[in-house]
Amino acid sequence: MNRLEGKTALITGAARGIGLAFAQAYVREGAQVAIADIDLPRAQAAAADLGAGACAVHMDITDQTSIDAAITQTVQHFGQIDILINNAALFTAAPIAEITREDYARVFDINVGGTLFTLQAVAKHMIASGHRGKIINMASQAGRRGEPLVGVYCATKAAVISLTQSAGLDLIKHGINVNAISPGVVDGEHWDGVDAFFAKYEGKAPGQKKREVAAAVPFGRMGTSDDLTGMAIFLASDDADYVVAQTYNVDGGQWMN
Ligand SMILES: NC(=O)c1ccc[n+]([C@@H]2O[C@H](COP(=O)([O-])OP(=O)(O)OC[C@H]3O[C@@H](n4cnc5c(N)ncnc54)[C@H](O)[C@@H]3O)[C@@H](O)[C@H]2O)c1
Repeated sequence: MNRLEGKTALITGAARGIGLAFAQAYVREGAQVAIADIDLPRAQAAAADLGAGACAVHMDITDQTSIDAAITQTVQHFGQIDILINNAALFTAAPIAEITREDYARVFDINVGGTLFTLQAVAKHMIASGHRGKIINMASQAGRRGEPLVGVYCATKAAVISLTQSAGLDLIKHGINVNAISPGVVDGEHWDGVDAFFAKYEGKAPGQKKREVAAAVPFGRMGTSDDLTGMAIFLASDDADYVVAQTYNVDGGQWMN
């Protein structure tokens, strides 16, 4: 406990799901957390549950003005940002023949552009404030190989892995460690949506895709958000000072590299 005492984290997309579990775990470890999300009422409810260690911040990671404002608000509230988790993202699915430019642009704008320009803005703050920092990007096993119905989302997560390498190598000279976590299949609202996509495109009954992916995980079940918090704490802690530009699979044994 208290491995993040005295640190402040900005976590995007933290109003629910994996980001919320990260926020809860970080507060338990002594950090102060800005719960940043496009869904402000839900972020406010999450922050209220966590008490004085958390605040809610409205943030749309596709909008530079909103990114800059969220950073300013976090610094005003807690004084600094030591840790960023670039967690907000959208899932989309369609056969290659049905992908539209609009959906491609929308999902790349959030998953890749949002990740890059939030990382850039927080890194500038860290460099200007002159202290070391930790940045964690959320990749996915979807970024490790393509899938027939998931072309755009897979490509965005492959881009996140690549950006983690480039940013990690560029920013370590400033004492900023950039790494990523690559989950497998994590149950929650995100996967409710994924299940619905597969119901639509593969004619599966609701819940069937979840049962199939759970059975395929070597560990024997889908992941939970809490399965990922240990890695998120480690990568944000001083124990990870010598870890640079890596993407860690936390997926019950799904992927090896
Ligand atoms: N759930 C999984 O199985 C799984 C697997 C691999 C990777 N991931 C990745 O983990 C991360 C978290 O996944 P999750 O399952 O918690 O997702 P989720 O869909 O449950 O939560 C995403 C959050 O991001 C917020 N958000 C959406 N657009 C935003 C924007 N423009 N600006 C700010 N916030 C925005 C949403 O309001 C929501 O609170 C994502 O990067 C996802 O791609 C998830």
